[in-house]
Amino acid sequence: MLTPLILSGGSGTRLWPVSRRNLPKQFLSLAGSGTLFEQTIRRTRELPGVTAPIVVASEDHRFLAAEQLMEAGVEGATIILEPMARNTAPAIALGALHAVEQDPDAILLVLPADHLIGDTANFVDAVTRALPTAAAGWLVTFGIRPDRPETGFGYIRRGEQLPEGGFRVERFVEKPDLPTAQAYLEDGGYDWNSGMFLFKASRYLEELAGHAPEMLAAVRAAHAAAKADLDFVRIDADLFARSPDDSIDYAVMEKTRRAAVLPVSCGWSDIGSWSALWLAGERDADGNLREGDTLTVNAHGCLLRSHERHLIAAVGVDNLVVVSTPDATLVAHRDAAQDVKKVVDQLKASG
Ligand code: GDD
Ligand code: MG
Repeated sequence: MLTPLILSGGSGTRLWPVSRRNLPKQFLSLAGSGTLFEQTIRRTRELPGVTAPIVVASEDHRFLAAEQLMEAGVEGATIILEPMARNTAPAIALGALHAVEQDPDAILLVLPADHLIGDTANFVDAVTRALPTAAAGWLVTFGIRPDRPETGFGYIRRGEQLPEGGFRVERFVEKPDLPTAQAYLEDGGYDWNSGMFLFKASRYLEELAGHAPEMLAAVRAAHAAAKADLDFVRIDADLFARSPDDSIDYAVMEKTRRAAVLPVSCGWSDIGSWSALWLAGERDADGNLREGDTLTVNAHGCLLRSHERHLIAAVGVDNLVVVSTPDATLVAHRDAAQDVKKVVDQLKASG
């Protein structure tokens, strides 16, 4: 049984002011057709022999997730609701615990809900090729050829070829600093971690038992006390709060000895920031990515996104991000796009 596990609990603060607490980026139409969440769900329907997905999302977004699953034409999904965010390692553990109850041999395809994939056929082909490796007990990652020293990603060093397909992971380094990322890029033997994973649910739980036993105990208790409510599985707040906060990358992938990597080329991009969206989008002859009512005079390399009938005119400027919404306008340098989350931090701090 192959089950997609959709991670949909991120807050997308680097895409402020469009991405907001009540409507984070995965539930928005930012690129491609439909929201990123709907595109992710639809993509899973192309996989042969796949079950309905498990979605792990914040309690606050339960109706968004349910509505958008319907919009994507999927019935029978399980929506696991987190009372608070504890990052991806506990979120995946919730999904894994649910999956092994249905089928002890369940294989999970973990997919972030906020990625763009241009080539679905290649994506389906990669997952299909990775299945025997996952069935043999490997934690399979999907490697992307890096083209810049991005520090927001995990880096994977390829080791020897595996008989089932793919390569053993010699080393997994989550979010290295810039000099390290530069060295990895020059080395040529490293791939980016796409953030998509394929493994047996039971194997993931074994890894947690070895590397993060407190997390597993807390998540197990919270899951055991969960309450079913229509299509929702509501996780117990007091028990889940006891789980340490950590990502799968730090908690498991950097530590496990059973990681594999399957290189994939599927037009992948993580729409993590306005500059990533600019990179992934279709730009005009001046390199501007424009959405809505916009006008440019001698402007280059900008991302301009206007709200409804609000006109944005950019004159004689390069590499700017200008995004307007009814109650906020962002003006940023494209190179500073990672710092947009600091705006949200300041807004939070000032209440
Ligand atoms: N349910 C749930 N709960 N989902 C979460 C939570 C949580 O607490 N935190 C994050 N997510 C979701 C996000 O919405 C996103 O879809 C996915 O999990 C990954 O989280 P990110 O926060 O976006 O991770 P990242 O982009 O910094 O890093 C990961 O992805 C990179 C590629 O995009 C890592 O796996 C890197 O190694 C990888 O290179
Ligand atoms: Mg991400």
